[in-house]
Amino acid sequence: MVEDIESDLELEVDPKTKSKTIWKKVGAYRFSKEIGRGAFSVVSKGYDVEGNEYAVKQISKAKLTAEQLKALKEEIRIMRLVKSEHIVKLYAAYQSKDNYYLILEYCSGGDLDSLVGKRLPESKIKQIISQLTKALKTLTDHSIMHRDLKLSNILISNDILKLADFGVARTLGSNQFANTFCGTPLYMAPEILAG
Ligand SMILES: Nc1ncnc2c1ncn2[C@@H]1O[C@H](COP(=O)(O)OP(=O)(O)O)[C@@H](O)[C@H]1O
Ligand SMILES: [Mg+2]
Repeated sequence: MVEDIESDLELEVDPKTKSKTIWKKVGAYRFSKEIGRGAFSVVSKGYDVEGNEYAVKQISKAKLTAEQLKALKEEIRIMRLVKSEHIVKLYAAYQSKDNYYLILEYCSGGDLDSLVGKRLPESKIKQIISQLTKALKTLTDHSIMHRDLKLSNILISNDILKLADFGVARTLGSNQFANTFCGTPLYMAPEILAG
């Protein structure tokens, strides 16, 4: 499920500008520029040998507790479970001695957090809400609880909204209950915060 690899560095010099790029290589992919960051990860823009774009989420093993490692395995399992245009696709998962790497569908529009404070036309807002509703319906249909829905975990790619970061997600059977306290405080319902 998670392929073992050696990660590798490669230096490339542009013959025209002489500018240098240090690429990190994992499996059939390489990446360099950081495009985002979360509590446990650094996300960079990656490419395959044909030049197709990806997002590479690197998670340092040193930072992971046993419980977080279990959650990462669940993140991988859940992302592979759902095939929907509104859920970020996971193409491959690797581990080196020090890191895990998730090769993800690249979302060129970034996350919704970066739209805060910007004026958007009403049609755009309607589009976002309608796609978000569809995305959440897909999760419900698969009995998936995301448990960390927030602007920075909702991405845009060519005007299509995609849910990302299934880092604390889990699936729930019909006769099961969930009572774990998790998520991001600023996005929690008051009754949850109150305990
Ligand atoms: N597939 C992607 N395409 C583009 N940017 C991404 C992608 N995945 C993550 N990012 C960026 O990286 C940030 C951190 O990724 P995320 O999966 O939320 O990590 P964490 O689990 O550490 O919170 C996101 O908020 C977003 O800005
Ligand atoms: Mg996140």
